[in-house]
Amino acid sequence: MPVYEPREDSFFMAEFLKKNGKLGTICVDVGTGSGILTETLAEKCDVVVASDISREALSYAKARMRKNNVFFVLGNLMDFVKRCDAVVFNAPYLSREEGEGYDIATHHQMPDGRDVLEEFIKSLSCTDFKRAYLLTSTQTDRTRMENAIHAHKMKAKVVARKRIFFEELVIEEITK
Ligand SMILES: C[S@@+](CC[C@H](N)C(=O)[O-])C[C@H]1O[C@@H](n2cnc3c(N)ncnc32)[C@H](O)[C@@H]1O
Repeated sequence: MPVYEPREDSFFMAEFLKKNGKLGTICVDVGTGSGILTETLAEKCDVVVASDISREALSYAKARMRKNNVFFVLGNLMDFVKRCDAVVFNAPYLSREEGEGYDIATHHQMPDGRDVLEEFIKSLSCTDFKRAYLLTSTQTDRTRMENAIHAHKMKAKVVARKRIFFEELVIEEITK
């Protein structure tokens, strides 16, 4: 699997995080990819746990990381964390119909066919966290996503938007 090359969505989330104050002691960057958001988060928390389901992504990000307060975990979503302050996920957010074949950018399904966004929301609900920032787009099935957030008794509010080409990127802050 190729490593997700940082693009508009990555830069948008990185800029958003830079504008934020401190995010707490322990932060989790789900789906670190190239490590771009992990690098920014390392300035905002004492410890960052960066995860990815892709071995290639983890090796790539680890080899290039310039911060020493980062720990890398090869794993699925939030499976490895029970408690943290903040969570960041620039999710594979396109719906199946929008995806252009099987590519890391549009890889929206778990290996067994489950939906990554819904699984993320479910795993978030089982974690003790203060706030989570989830980047999706107006191309995402938002009703399905919002239903999942509410079904797991969490709240979401849009905290940033950016128009790019044919879509709008959306950052949601999720809390319990
Ligand atoms: C859109 S890319 C974002 C990469 C990077 N954070 C950025 O902003 O450029 C999504 C990342 O999530 C990872 N990913 C996909 N499914 C995952 C899962 N179930 N658990 C952990 N990471 C996952 C992919 O391997 C990919 O690196």
